[in-house]
Amino acid sequence: MYDLHSHILPGIDDGPRSKNESLELILAASRSGIKTLIATPHMKDVNEKRSVRYTQEVLRLLQQDVKSLNLSIRLKMGMENHLAPNTPDMFKAGKSLTINSTNFALIELPFFGYPDYVDDTLQELQQNGITPVLAHPERIELIQNNPAKLEQFVNQGMVSQVTSGSLIGQFGKEVKSFTEMLVTKGMAHVMSSDCHRPFGRRAPDLHVGYQAAYRLIGEAKAKMLVCHNPKSIINGTYTSHTL
Ligand SMILES: [Fe+2]
Repeated sequence: MYDLHSHILPGIDDGPRSKNESLELILAASRSGIKTLIATPHMKDVNEKRSVRYTQEVLRLLQQDVKSLNLSIRLKMGMENHLAPNTPDMFKAGKSLTINSTNFALIELPFFGYPDYVDDTLQELQQNGITPVLAHPERIELIQNNPAKLEQFVNQGMVSQVTSGSLIGQFGKEVKSFTEMLVTKGMAHVMSSDCHRPFGRRAPDLHVGYQAAYRLIGEAKAKMLVCHNPKSIINGTYTSHTL
């Protein structure tokens, strides 16, 4: 499986607090069946507390540890970019990062409300050649109140990334049933872990989400969510919504 959304870097954001905890998390991800993990630290934390260069160095050191532990999991760089009016400028300045240096970027919409810059900024990113991969739309009020808005974004070419924990009830019953609706109606193209900790509610248990998706939409479509679609995004070759 290929995980596009994770918080695995130590001491950067609200993910692991130490290198040991990072390695425990990566080991848990590997046991879950994840082959490639994109580190997506919060853009705000990277730039306000550290820097992109520092964060890339943390990832490089972690890759060395993973190699010396003989874990068959690959770590690559990304970022969770919260949407703000200056997001296009942040990409131009190299302060926001895409997924594995492709044209796909993980974008987090505001959790609450519907600020007036949302549509225009998403469109501007697309005009600049960046395809937004919308992080956990099932947890975003704008989408919860108006699922048709997600459909509109998808029809404009954006990608919808649901979180495995949402599908197994880690964020409550309402989010679970809403996620089931999105998955069933083909309004989810990728499922990721959004893991923060080795154990508990924010663990990298993508396999459990996969099993839940399997029961809902069958093996072939469930595999699209965790294998084919995220893999082709990481490779930069994803072209269409194939669910
Ligand atoms: Fe996240």
